[in-house]
Amino acid sequence: MKVKKAVIPAAGYGTRMLPITKAQPKEMVPVVHKPVIQYVVEEAYYSGIREILIITGKHKRAIEDHFDRGDLPKKEEYTEELERILDEVSIFFVRQKEQRGLGDAVKYAEAFVDDEPFALLLGDNITIPPCTEMLVNVFARYGGSVIAVERVPRERIPLHGIIKGSELDKGIYRIEDMIEKPRVEEAPSDLAVLGRYVLTPEIFDYLKNLKPGYGGEIQLTDALRDMAKEKDVYGMLYNGRRYDIGNKLEWLKANVEIALGDVELGREFKEWLANLR
Ligand code: UTP
Repeated sequence: MKVKKAVIPAAGYGTRMLPITKAQPKEMVPVVHKPVIQYVVEEAYYSGIREILIITGKHKRAIEDHFDRGDLPKKEEYTEELERILDEVSIFFVRQKEQRGLGDAVKYAEAFVDDEPFALLLGDNITIPPCTEMLVNVFARYGGSVIAVERVPRERIPLHGIIKGSELDKGIYRIEDMIEKPRVEEAPSDLAVLGRYVLTPEIFDYLKNLKPGYGGEIQLTDALRDMAKEKDVYGMLYNGRRYDIGNKLEWLKANVEIALGDVELGREFKEWLANLR
């Protein structure tokens, strides 16, 4: 079945980005030319998706305004690309009533998703090259939910959801277990969930009665772990770069990589960077 819908959770606090996020959502933090959530919407669009649900919440109104069709001057390359995408994509919004965790946010997508598989993209993460198209292809081949994972150094294991899996094909794992932010000693591998998924609607059955987990929040990882025990859930090793824009150092690195590759700014920026003392 083709993946035609995407869900983008964007209702988190963004405390790690304070004070930048004191009066604006972290998903609107700029990375070179665009706010981070525009990269995420573009990633979904270029994977063939044409219906997108963004889960927002308190203090997130600017996200909705950003995706209005504007009366902007048409001549600017970057606004033109967005306007073209907005012509083809329907974007819907729903508000998470309380910030109770990613698992709780995803529950708000049930009516939108209905009985179709859907891509799930965290609204504060950028992947280069785009990860979602790869997941959509793996889903088409294996037919079960697929989670993108990346190798992380030992010291970063406690910051992520970590999977236990057996490798079926090169870079494709059958997930047997998952733990949210384990201690290094209890981690079953160094494969960390990175914030891109293609899920079947069965996930909502597992989210329904979920109790708060790590940090007192409703954890998507806990629902995925329960699902992996009863259904086929796959891990796809992603070898690109993922930047969590909710983290200041990664936000800076994303800016540098994207600016260096930019046709308008890249050459001059590279020269300036090389001479920076
Ligand atoms: P984070 O782990 O980055 O948490 O959320 P956060 O609350 O947004 O940020 P900090 O830790 O306060 O700095 C991961 C993803 O889950 C979404 C976030 O928007 C982000 O895309 N999320 C998290 C929700 O939509 N709702 C929640 O209740 C929690």
